[in-house]
Amino acid sequence: MDRYGLWIRGEFVDSNRNECFETRNPADQSVIARVARGRGEDVDAAVRVARSTFESDEWQSMHPAERGRILLRTSELIRRNRDELATLETLDNGKPLKQAQTDIEVSARYFEYYAGVADKILGETIPVSPGYIDFTQREPFGVCALIIPWNYPMQVAARTAAPALAAGNTVVLKPAEETPLTALKLGVLLKEAGLPDGAFNVVPGFGEEAGAALAAHPGIDHVSFTGSVPVGTEVMTSAAKNIVPVTLELGGKSPNIVFADADLEEAARWVVSSIIQNAGQTCSAGSRLLVELSIHDQFLSMVKARLESITVGPGIRNPDMGPIISEKQLRTVMGYIALAEEEGAEILTGGARLEDGELARGFFVAPTLLDRVPQGGRVATEEIFGPVLSTLTFEDVDEAISIANETPYGLVAGVHTRDLSKALTVAKKVRAGQVFINTYGAGGGVEMPFGGYGKSGFGREKGLEALLHFTQLKNVLIRYGS
Ligand code: NAI
Ligand code: MG
Repeated sequence: MDRYGLWIRGEFVDSNRNECFETRNPADQSVIARVARGRGEDVDAAVRVARSTFESDEWQSMHPAERGRILLRTSELIRRNRDELATLETLDNGKPLKQAQTDIEVSARYFEYYAGVADKILGETIPVSPGYIDFTQREPFGVCALIIPWNYPMQVAARTAAPALAAGNTVVLKPAEETPLTALKLGVLLKEAGLPDGAFNVVPGFGEEAGAALAAHPGIDHVSFTGSVPVGTEVMTSAAKNIVPVTLELGGKSPNIVFADADLEEAARWVVSSIIQNAGQTCSAGSRLLVELSIHDQFLSMVKARLESITVGPGIRNPDMGPIISEKQLRTVMGYIALAEEEGAEILTGGARLEDGELARGFFVAPTLLDRVPQGGRVATEEIFGPVLSTLTFEDVDEAISIANETPYGLVAGVHTRDLSKALTVAKKVRAGQVFINTYGAGGGVEMPFGGYGKSGFGREKGLEALLHFTQLKNVLIRYGS
């Protein structure tokens, strides 16, 4: 069995107390690897290394084009190691191998994308009084803390680390305890690509130990967190005490709004793929179906048929859908299905754990379609994070918008219609940071700014927008006249 240390100053080291934890395959609960269990003192060591590397000028003062070349080489190394990384991700997280391969390609794209902008982080000149020149420049913050979840371990590591590094910051990353392996491998690849030792450090461990210590560390200058609302609140509270800026990506309850005039086959395809991907454990999952009353029966039977054709099994065998990440998450999902029945919803398909044969050893849930979910109830408004689609019905554009906006979240929305006016009206009025018209999801969406309204968080990941979040602005005024 493999054993992994903490990744600090470009090498694997034991944790201070020499403790480990096991990471398991959620398809059968087998142990894949033993991983060093970082705690406060290990976080402290990693932050000190990241700080001294930042202050050494080795990274932040490197020619930006050279910084870009190192990130570009990282993307090439990720692609070269695609099969190994994808297999590791599938074993650790459970997702189908083809989805893991896509995740690895998207991760390579993040490094490629931000490699290209490392030497294009521009400032402005600002007209002021005669005899003066004023300009701005974007500088790195220093040490960035990245606390990431288990649903897209490699993708989220890449989407946060690539822009942070491109801007000249150094990094301490805390992967989720469920899925620490690919972030550790990323450390090895960054070193191979030429990143100075100490610019990228990984402290695996538990949230309340390593995660909380990192968020509260006085030596960090910026925190990026992706995960649950309660932990996001704690991370922000810790950052507030140090007056440190925060980017929060906290999931959602995103709607697919299907009008009667849509291409229904196409719409059904997007609706199903957006809830099946990663077994519904996706921050931007299309977890609510808002369907126009006149096509309710017809459209639901199309969605139901598609859900019933989904193959479920261990990710390594490449089914359409793999297991839920953990027993804890399985209980959450099954709890919401029970709650849906209590609230009066109807289960049109699925609704049960799958335990036949080998599936009994893992955490598998049948793709589930709920109808007549009461508007404003818990199932209609809370994030389930499993393959459970909640259906609500509307009669016109205004009602569709009002139901769509009836959750505390606001991450993504899908609109399916042939009527441009309806599509753009919804796009304008829906409370969401990203809107998809006649499609859903962006296959990684590396170039497109992504992030939430409301309790989905704030700040933006991806695209040029994310790069700006990893820089701080300095203004310089020069007097040259007399
Ligand atoms: P979580 O929020 O506990 O985990 C996310 C990350 O935060 C992990 O790295 C974890 O170790 C870390 N963490 C946990 N407690 C911490 C603390 N006190 N201080 C600092 N870091 C801490 O999420 P969990 O419990 O795994 O999942 C619960 C729910 O959260 C899910 O059902 C889902 O609704 C939501 N979630 C949303 C995600 C998204 O992509 N936005 C990803 C994962 C979970
Ligand atoms: Mg695992």
